[in-house]
Amino acid sequence: MGRLEKANEITELRVNPHDRALTRDELEEGTTWCDILLSQLVDPVDAALMDCNSELKLIANYAVGYNNIDVPAATERGIPVTNTPGVLDDSTADLTWALLMAVARRIVEADRYMRGGEYEGWAPTLLMGTDVHHKTLGIVGLGRIGFALAQRARGFGMRILYSDLEPKSYAEEVGAEYADMYALLRQSDFVSLHPFYDKKSHHLIDTRELREMKRSAFLINVSRGPVVNEKALVKALQAGEIAGAALDVYEREPKMEPELAEMDNVVIVPHIASASLETRTAMGNIAVDNVLARCRGDALTTCLNPEAAG
Ligand code: DGY
Repeated sequence: MGRLEKANEITELRVNPHDRALTRDELEEGTTWCDILLSQLVDPVDAALMDCNSELKLIANYAVGYNNIDVPAATERGIPVTNTPGVLDDSTADLTWALLMAVARRIVEADRYMRGGEYEGWAPTLLMGTDVHHKTLGIVGLGRIGFALAQRARGFGMRILYSDLEPKSYAEEVGAEYADMYALLRQSDFVSLHPFYDKKSHHLIDTRELREMKRSAFLINVSRGPVVNEKALVKALQAGEIAGAALDVYEREPKMEPELAEMDNVVIVPHIASASLETRTAMGNIAVDNVLARCRGDALTTCLNPEAAG
């Protein structure tokens, strides 16, 4: 029996029938009705939403990131919050790697060129890109995803630098060297962002940081959009202060600065880092397991605020 069927046996399920996020009204209406909310990363689960239902017993986020949830407000109200760590590191690192390769080797541009019927024959400088192997990769935030990215970079013989709040003991396993973020920005050919998103990492990459990067360097962001000041990024790209960017996330999703779509040296995808069937299934299983555990009064496996779990 699948997890959802199991959940249906012990509780009454109401499932979002659309393959899209709920509107605020739908979200409020659903929250009023339910005891347990299985939220998506685009659902803003703030204090006002929690107050729609004083009986709310769990918020199970279908994502590892939980910046959409006011966890302190949930704790104050005695509502446990869970996320889905561990199961999406490799898929997210895979997508990061795909973006890095795509922007360096101009894959998307080359695909458009072929489809546009422009190819008239081999030429020495046609769609020349930048090598990835043996270059320097700077990883901002060596958590689980940053580490998985470093494992991939090793296979390409890259020098790996990382910055973080403090050096990580496991960095040695992938030969990553600890560096101050500004030293990393100055030395890296590719800068990939993997910090935890909160007030401190808001606009971590802004005009000044972009200017520290090499003019030949590329920025890759699969973390959260507001880690980068998107308007500053557009200006840096327009001024040729960096060579290009590859983005999975945007500051005001689903919107993005329109200029990004006009630049050939920018690869843009719609927040799909964990979007493989296997990974999204694994994420869903963790979320539903937490729902089942709460219904049965069992311990929650991935609780972010155990003090609220009771
Ligand atoms: C997450 O789980 O936080 C990711 O952004 C999903 O792709």
